[in-house]
Amino acid sequence: MPGPCALVLFGVTGDLSRKKLMPALYDLANRGLLPPGFGLVGFARRDWADEDFAQVVHDSVREHSRTPFREETWAQLMESIRFVQGTFDDDEAFVRLKATLQELDNVQGTGGNHAFYLSVPPRMFNQVIAQLTRVGLTEHSPGRWSRVVIEKPFGRDLTSAQELEKTVSSAFPESSVFRIDHYLGKETVQNLLALRFANQLFEPIWSRTYIDHVQITMAEDIGIGGRAGYYDGIGAARDVIQNHLLQLLALTAMEEPTSFTAENLRIEKQKVLDAVRPPRDFARDTARGQYTGAWAGGVKVRGYLEEDGIPQDSRTETYAAIRVDIDNRRWAGVPFYLRAAKRMPRRVTEIALVLQPAPHLPFTDVAELGANAIVLRIQPDEGVTLRFGAKVPSTQMEIREVSMDFTYGGSFTESSPEAYERLIIDVLLGDPPLFPQRAQVEASWRILDPVLDYWASLPTTPDPYASGTWGPESAAAMMAASGRTWRRP
Ligand code: BG6
Repeated sequence: MPGPCALVLFGVTGDLSRKKLMPALYDLANRGLLPPGFGLVGFARRDWADEDFAQVVHDSVREHSRTPFREETWAQLMESIRFVQGTFDDDEAFVRLKATLQELDNVQGTGGNHAFYLSVPPRMFNQVIAQLTRVGLTEHSPGRWSRVVIEKPFGRDLTSAQELEKTVSSAFPESSVFRIDHYLGKETVQNLLALRFANQLFEPIWSRTYIDHVQITMAEDIGIGGRAGYYDGIGAARDVIQNHLLQLLALTAMEEPTSFTAENLRIEKQKVLDAVRPPRDFARDTARGQYTGAWAGGVKVRGYLEEDGIPQDSRTETYAAIRVDIDNRRWAGVPFYLRAAKRMPRRVTEIALVLQPAPHLPFTDVAELGANAIVLRIQPDEGVTLRFGAKVPSTQMEIREVSMDFTYGGSFTESSPEAYERLIIDVLLGDPPLFPQRAQVEASWRILDPVLDYWASLPTTPDPYASGTWGPESAAAMMAASGRTWRRP
């Protein structure tokens, strides 16, 4: 359990706060993981009293939390809730914020420890951080801490990421900056480390000697919903490849860290990200698409260009696929294919290590034998699958592909905490292994920037694909160029 502290939420009216952050705080309280000396402060423009904000938290908890609603937990949490009304250019509001935090220190015993969660667009960071600095809330005094939590997008390319980091580091040392990549908070992602490094079974084949290629897929069945303002001009590659997928790649491909401290993990992740080579032939090794209207899952859905708030001539990609290679001894010659998209046939995130074919097959009837594969199912059907060939009963020697499955639900009775529960508690504990450091963010942009520049230079729009299908033809062609195919999870 963390020591006494207060968490200040900027952006309380946003979707993330309502659907993820407030429910996660309640779930932590329900699991007995919030300290007795805790305070939650919301900061927003709305003309709310503490009770109004508490009601907002209450409603979001009722609707979205993972654990059952308990009156005692709520009553305790409600005591700790405060609201500060103001805009980011309102100096007085930040003076009031400081006073509120002092009041919480006195009444709730939050000990002068404060975490500032900037769930606001990055263009606001400068102003918020300047205001916090002006009123002395970023000062580090002995025995007290002040931390900042930032959400992606961490810039839109390397240059803007570096500018943003300059702003953040002007007020907070790197050890006090917590960059959220919520995929790292997922149980299944952390299990990747357990699978690789707690077992003897997998590591011997985890290299170019046996692996043919790796596919990392993040498919979503939803469209962009009400997020036009954020998504348009950003697109699938910046939205999730730059962060979630490259982090998954790093955990899949890195060497064993000496221990799981933040520093040792950082060293290994950084080494592997630095060894990633962007595609050599952009036309061959990348694909981008944009969903069009269609019947998907029994309903008629709109195409990207028909979504509210999207300009008719938008070139934003909702499907992005890239091939990268890793220039090191373990992975030389093993392509890593990353794809991320909206409006796919189903929601699935997985990492599939596809093995080379057996060097010799003393069978004739192998028509239904695919490549062996180790599939790490990140979500929603969390677990691990091994795909291999087995004899079909009572035939002579017909081989067909079968699966061996580990599912979380089948092996454990506990349900997995939400990623944000884990990440918020780690912020309050000051335990940083699950947060990407600045150098990783920059390395990821170095990988992606050349692809984004290439796409921006094309006179064409992204290739259309019908909603509810597995992407544009160019994506299939990209795999076919090396004689491979995308998995249909
Ligand atoms: C976010 C992206 O980081 O992840 C969204 O910005 C995406 O576009 C979301 O929908 C998916 O998260 P999850 O946890 O549902 O896979």
